[in-house]
Amino acid sequence: MQDVLPLSSFADGGLAVVVGAGGIGSALATRIAASRRFDKLVLTSRSGEPPPDAAPSVQMRSLDLLDESSIEDLAAYISGLDEPLRLVICATGILHCGEDISPERRLEDISSSQLARVFAVNAFGPLLIAKHLAPLLPRRERSVFAAISARVGSIGDNRLGGWYAYRASKAALNQFLRCVSIELGRRVPAAIVTALHPGTVDTALSSPFQAGVPEKQLFSADHSAARLLEVVDGLGPEDSGGFFAWDGSPIPW
Ligand SMILES: NC(=O)c1ccc[n+]([C@@H]2O[C@H](COP(=O)([O-])OP(=O)(O)OC[C@H]3O[C@@H](n4cnc5c(N)ncnc54)[C@H](OP(=O)(O)O)[C@@H]3O)[C@@H](O)[C@H]2O)c1
Repeated sequence: MQDVLPLSSFADGGLAVVVGAGGIGSALATRIAASRRFDKLVLTSRSGEPPPDAAPSVQMRSLDLLDESSIEDLAAYISGLDEPLRLVICATGILHCGEDISPERRLEDISSSQLARVFAVNAFGPLLIAKHLAPLLPRRERSVFAAISARVGSIGDNRLGGWYAYRASKAALNQFLRCVSIELGRRVPAAIVTALHPGTVDTALSSPFQAGVPEKQLFSADHSAARLLEVVDGLGPEDSGGFFAWDGSPIPW
């Protein structure tokens, strides 16, 4: 990591939460810890184990999006910390998983069990995070609730087809986030809700699909995390409900 991001749009102190300690989630947590903007940073993984390079200040919690009670436990833990919750980033997702899940190339590859699992993790999971954590966002101070979506979830941008479950689950996630932004506009008006595209990033999720990606377009997790946090830092109230790429450009629905 080179430059430290100040994240100066956030008030000093309070709490940041990153859900998911995969490639991008771990890099986000490292960058957020380095900023020293927040008093506390909570990072979740299914195992509850910290990633190898986790900053000592990071507080690990275990959470499985397929088990809503683990999300309730996280919300109860956060309430008990008695710090204003200023930033939540959901950095979870699946594209492939062992022999059970791999992106569909054609209709014959479709299975209802794969669709159900991918939607449960990619779309329902972040919505359940919003259900339990959004009520903890401060009503009058700026806060951000973001989830990592994917450009391939854009219907307007879909020219290749395929990847049915992943694309459609991200489109559903985008719609869920839009709904959350509208509801929070009434209930927690200072909160900003957004979907983010991280670029093509060198992580376990993308590794089987990197062959055709030009070297310059394959980001390190740290580079993507830094660009995403710059976007998050620059978000204003008018951006709530939007879908933005790593460079801040809006993505069509
Ligand atoms: N890499 C890319 O090129 C790319 C491009 C566009 C969008 N994205 C999106 O970026 C996000 C992060 O992906 P990544 O590239 O960092 O992939 P990754 O390294 O594979 O990380 C995926 C994360 O999802 C978590 N996860 C999976 N199933 C879960 C469940 N049931 N409950 C809780 N957590 C679960 C994993 O948790 P465990 O650590 O517990 O397994 C891990 O933290 C995803 O939403 C992905 O769709 C990535």
